[in-house]
Amino acid sequence: MTVKGHKNNHFRFLALIVALLLVYSALPLIPFYSMEGADKAENNASAVKKLAGNQGSYFSFIVFGDNHSGLFLNDAVTLKEIWQMNREDRFRKVPIDIVLSVGDITLDGARGQFESFKKVQKLIKYPLIAAIGNHDDRALFEEYVGKPEFSFVNRNSCFIVMDNNHQGVSEAQFAWLEDELKKGQEYDHIFVVMHKPPFDPYQQDWYNIDNNPWAYRLRKLFAKYEVDMVFSGHKHMFKNENFEGVDYIVTGGGGMLLEIPEDDGGYLHYVRVMVNNDFVTYEVRKVSPPLWEWATYYFWKELVYWARNFYGSGYILGRNTKMEPLKITNLNDKEYWMTGKLESR
Ligand SMILES: [Fe+2]
Repeated sequence: MTVKGHKNNHFRFLALIVALLLVYSALPLIPFYSMEGADKAENNASAVKKLAGNQGSYFSFIVFGDNHSGLFLNDAVTLKEIWQMNREDRFRKVPIDIVLSVGDITLDGARGQFESFKKVQKLIKYPLIAAIGNHDDRALFEEYVGKPEFSFVNRNSCFIVMDNNHQGVSEAQFAWLEDELKKGQEYDHIFVVMHKPPFDPYQQDWYNIDNNPWAYRLRKLFAKYEVDMVFSGHKHMFKNENFEGVDYIVTGGGGMLLEIPEDDGGYLHYVRVMVNNDFVTYEVRKVSPPLWEWATYYFWKELVYWARNFYGSGYILGRNTKMEPLKITNLNDKEYWMTGKLESR
């Protein structure tokens, strides 16, 4: 055999290995599509009941969001995340009591997508509590997951799950929330779960909430009642902020195809939170996509951003010297928000 023949054989062998790895990485989807989901009776209320007997001030919980079940690209990632979540208790140091979802549990609210989410729920070995997202149909959410707004207690901590599936937070919700925050004062910690973050996690984006009265009011209220952490999603990325002593975590990397560059927070992940008596810490667990999805999407996403950053986007021909007029004209500097209605999704 010639040297060239040897090289060809090596190349073929390598290509075969890569092809096998790609196929292997897609296999978990097969049992997922043929399995049964969790029963509808396993919902937010039944998950809260499971927490009743918990004792002690040391525990852990997991938060993820925007898995958007029902699209195979999303489900494939969520399956990988679940596999890692289910291993979180391997050191047996601290019990993991709950997994919280910050909403957008379905791609766009169809019944079949809720059925997919129930499979996700079944595969997660811890009790699951979910908030409603703007993509989740309200009636179906109540049918499959239960109430979208409630509070519960676990050990030394109070959890408030809020519904901001639609724009804003109503006066009735503010009244209810303040009442819950007052009741929460007797616990060491207060955690809030809601879909839309009450601030802009990513400035290069359409989501414009900083100037909205409901978001400002929420931030002030959370600070007043010394909330420990506010978890949200909506933006498909990771971002952490701290306003007036309150930690805000955006964890929207639970499955949906990400568009933001990895360096800016556009990576798949979930968050693990640890409550150590008086103290709370958290860690972000980055999860890489399955190999086939990396090869078909995530690799190219990063490459496009890399190319854009490296070569610029059109600056050789167009010098971008024109000042753009603001679309928002009625910003009220003194009170920080607009006096008119702000369109935001
Ligand atoms: Fe989403």
